[in-house]
Amino acid sequence: MLNLNPDIFAAMYLIATILFIFGLKGLSSPKTAVRGNVYAMVGMVIAVITTLFHPDVKNYTWIFAGISLGAVIGVIVALKIQMTAMPQLVACLHSFVGLAAVLVAFGTFILHDAARQVAGQLETVLLIEIIIGSIIGAVTFTGSLIAFGKLQAILSSNSLIFKGQHLFNLFLALVMLVFSIQFVYSPGVLPFITATVIALALGFLLILPIGGADMPVVVSMLNSYSGWAAAATGFTLKNNLLITTGALVGSSGAILSYIMCKSMNRSFFSVILGGFGENSGGDSGEGSALSQAVKKGIKSVAPEDAAFVLENASKVIVVPGYGMAVAQAQHSLKELYLFLQQKGVDFRFAIHPVAGRMPGHMNVLLAEAEIPYDSVLEMDEINPEFASTDVALIIGANDVVNPAAKSDKTSPLYGMPILDAYKAKQVYMVKRSMKPGYAGVDNALFYYDNCALIFGDAKNVCLSLLAALNGT
Ligand code: TAP
Repeated sequence: MLNLNPDIFAAMYLIATILFIFGLKGLSSPKTAVRGNVYAMVGMVIAVITTLFHPDVKNYTWIFAGISLGAVIGVIVALKIQMTAMPQLVACLHSFVGLAAVLVAFGTFILHDAARQVAGQLETVLLIEIIIGSIIGAVTFTGSLIAFGKLQAILSSNSLIFKGQHLFNLFLALVMLVFSIQFVYSPGVLPFITATVIALALGFLLILPIGGADMPVVVSMLNSYSGWAAAATGFTLKNNLLITTGALVGSSGAILSYIMCKSMNRSFFSVILGGFGENSGGDSGEGSALSQAVKKGIKSVAPEDAAFVLENASKVIVVPGYGMAVAQAQHSLKELYLFLQQKGVDFRFAIHPVAGRMPGHMNVLLAEAEIPYDSVLEMDEINPEFASTDVALIIGANDVVNPAAKSDKTSPLYGMPILDAYKAKQVYMVKRSMKPGYAGVDNALFYYDNCALIFGDAKNVCLSLLAALNGT
């Protein structure tokens, strides 16, 4: 087998790590995202090739068989996957990382256990690494499978809570700890498997209660877990690159989860402990105003009527959401933007941090349509602008503009900051039906006096608006 000088080996791993850091930095802005991806890809190529020269690599047959099979499956999935199904895919990939961590931990234990029969005691540090790797991997594996099931709508996205759940989880965690300690003091397959099976059960139990609007945080948190599982595997395998890469993924996922919790006004612990932040009822005064609004009825208008109002507006803000992604309406929206801007309309886009189904979903689609970055504003920047806006045009967004999040304490969305589209003089909501959004709750905005729905597929409605504006 080919072997590299250890110094060159370490230097190559260092270069790969630096490229991963530059990659992450690049991903922090749409302008530099492509460059960031290139850095990360080059880093990964260096990492994989260098690892093939590791002294522990004795045979290439299985490695190349695995890489080839994985590459074929990866290319097929990448070509077929819809942008809207990305969160499920990410959850599914996290589950693989978790499962790999469990298998590596088990394999390492079996290997070292066989050697111990000859050479005596196993190192305590190694045993701790093995059991931690297996536990984090097992929680990540089943937790990610549940997240996949919820996002793919195989399982209900509702929060599933039972009485005494947190106490039961705590009890399981303590039993798992006892078996883990037993494994470290008296290594054996039984405590290893028992602790791992309990961790698998905890993965299910921790993610099942999380529902509705908190799912994005869960996906990013599982991303973090998968990083820590990889880092633990790195310790077990004594592979520095896996440790640093795992730590990068683990900490960036944790930071992202924290940022998302902040922008959704959720407590991080209430989300990760599942169901702690659920609202227990009680209606506020303003919540009753919502129920009064419900009785008022809903208005709907034709795209031609809305086009007339848009043409005469001086300030328009578009709020894109998941429906824009489903309809792939970003290109026709760009044409609408160009048309109205040319007519002197101040036309901008408002981005909610959890609009769509993954972080940065709307930014990516708008960038793909080459809508200038300076016309795309984040929630905190654009919210003060709505009150002086003539038209808020909501394209396939729902939860992120639901005023019940501000006023109705009974709403599952209560506490999540929203885009204040309801403050505009006229609000148009483009969607296909009266169905709710991801969180499964009715939208109070439907019933506001200044709001009218334009029913239809987002792309078709944008095209109809354009046709009406062009007078065709
Ligand atoms: P949603 O609240 O999910 O609403 C999307 C709306 O788009 C639906 O009401 C749907 O109504 C409409 N729609 C679907 N297809 C359409 C089409 N072809 N044309 C026109 N409209 C269409 O979306 P949002 O406002 O973007 O909010 C995101 C939600 O997803 C939040 O609850 C968030 O917590 C959750 N979530 C976010 C993420 C991340 S990280 N962004 C990840 C997972 C979950 P019709 O069916 O009536 O058309």
